[in-house]
Amino acid sequence: MEDTTRRSNLLVIGSGLAGLSAAVAAAEQGLTVTVLSKSENLTESNTLYAQGGIVETGIGDSPDLLIRDIIDAGSGLNNSRSVRILAESGPELVADYLVRKAEVPFERGEEGEFDRTREGAHTVRRILHVNDQTGRAIQEQMLGYARSCPGITLLSGHIAVDIITNTHHSTDYQQRYKRHRALGAYVLNQQTGEIRPFYAESTVIATGGIGNLYLHTSNPESATGDGIAMAYRAGCSIINAEYVQFHPTVLFHRDVKRFLITEALRGEGARLLNTKGEYFMERYHPRLRDLAPRDEVARAIYREMDGSTGYVYLDARDITHVNIADRFPGIYEQCKALDIDIVNQPIPVVPAAHYFCGGIKVDEHSKTEIDGLYVVGESSCTGVHGANRLASVSLLEALVFGIRAGHHAAIQQKPLRDNLIASIPDWVYPKQPIDFDPLLIQHDMFTLQSTMWNYVGIVRSKRRLDRALADLNYFTHRIEKFYQEARAGESILALRNAVLVGTLITKAAAGNHRSLGCHYRTDSMH
Ligand code: FAD
Ligand code: SIN
Repeated sequence: MEDTTRRSNLLVIGSGLAGLSAAVAAAEQGLTVTVLSKSENLTESNTLYAQGGIVETGIGDSPDLLIRDIIDAGSGLNNSRSVRILAESGPELVADYLVRKAEVPFERGEEGEFDRTREGAHTVRRILHVNDQTGRAIQEQMLGYARSCPGITLLSGHIAVDIITNTHHSTDYQQRYKRHRALGAYVLNQQTGEIRPFYAESTVIATGGIGNLYLHTSNPESATGDGIAMAYRAGCSIINAEYVQFHPTVLFHRDVKRFLITEALRGEGARLLNTKGEYFMERYHPRLRDLAPRDEVARAIYREMDGSTGYVYLDARDITHVNIADRFPGIYEQCKALDIDIVNQPIPVVPAAHYFCGGIKVDEHSKTEIDGLYVVGESSCTGVHGANRLASVSLLEALVFGIRAGHHAAIQQKPLRDNLIASIPDWVYPKQPIDFDPLLIQHDMFTLQSTMWNYVGIVRSKRRLDRALADLNYFTHRIEKFYQEARAGESILALRNAVLVGTLITKAAAGNHRSLGCHYRTDSMH
């Protein structure tokens, strides 16, 4: 089976919403598509854990109103052209792909109208949701739709290691003077341990975010910035890397990590409370209070936690217009299992790394500077989010730009000549690969995550960033040596990518002295 899938029109690296959107759009145009997921389970992704919902359109809403909200939340650093594309085409694509084709069961009222929720910094209720498990519904339904599309092959447990280009891997040195073109990727089959080239006329990176570079995060362990590191090594620009968004409310509990408490709970009236019993958001943002933009709420919590117990509370006790257990069943059940009754008790929460607003620079078709290489979803930087993402816009961006990339790849089809394929060398394995003690790799990951959390976190300064760069430099040497000698496996590949992306984020943060959106420096020059 593998040999036919190793040569397709389109190779999509990642099976979250962005990758699946690109895949189905291209397959609908008649392309053969191979989709890879590094996890054994094709659904494991950031998409799966999305709670709040996806922006569509509200009563009295308009593209201009949505554009204004996105740009206000993004502190004006947004690419206005990309924002307009998203706002104007988003609702139609949600209707066509998610509602009609994938049949996502968004909540509806008695008359069949959508039940729209609200989150921070949105002027109107315009977010479609499936209770508090919107991501799971979208991921499963889109995967179902992708499975039904002729021409798509889905491969789990396949980790892309590096993008193949006509320049940096080829043994034909004349190629390097030509225009850069992506030809596919080297891919590790986790079952066989082999790394083999997968060839494609176009390649789409859809590997998601970077949350797992941080000690505290809402993201699953798979979010290690693989695609960003691969694209950087292949010669792409990484932009806006200093803008890492911290979600204000992740559950604070000894036994359960990475569990988000959706902003939609604040949208329905929950309020932040400090350990002294004060509702404090009024002091930080008198107009929007608990529904202020995410960067401002996260920093307010950071200040309120200072010197105290290391958490604050989210208080949903006053919500009476909805039944909390029905509207937020995932959160209700998870908290109940930990003996927290959210109807009668406030929920302990902390901010945690959540979303990468920066990424690989792409144009309005999600194409990079390298021919035949696209990036979609959280790995990309379309400029939609500017310096801070507005809630529930990420899934919409993954859908809109995923579909645009799939269509563009179909139009731009440029056959891969056999002599070009023949010039691609086989993967070179270490002569005597070493199976490192997994504890060494785990410890390095933990140290990297601590460095990023402490020095490149919610509040930054020159001293912290300088220390981070010195530490990352040291880790890079050790980890690169590991990588050169090790038998390739998921954890060493992730660690190698994480240290590179951590360095890119830190350098961007150190080089930008101006606090804006989610990049905040105590020594800001403005
Ligand atoms: P992902 O969904 O993360 O998919 C990445 C894919 O890449 C996975 O299949 C993974 O296996 C694969 N992959 C990674 N590396 C490799 C590799 N080397 N080789 C092969 N495959 C690889 N956004 C909203 O708009 N609304 C919300 O309500 C919302 N809630 C959220 C709640 C949580 C807890 C989290 C974590 C995020 C939330 N977000 C939300 C953000 C949103 O979910 C993500 O930004 C979005 O789903 C990203 O989609 P993606 O397809 O780009 O990446
Ligand atoms: C949430 O539900 O709070 C997350 C929404 C998002 O990240 O857009």
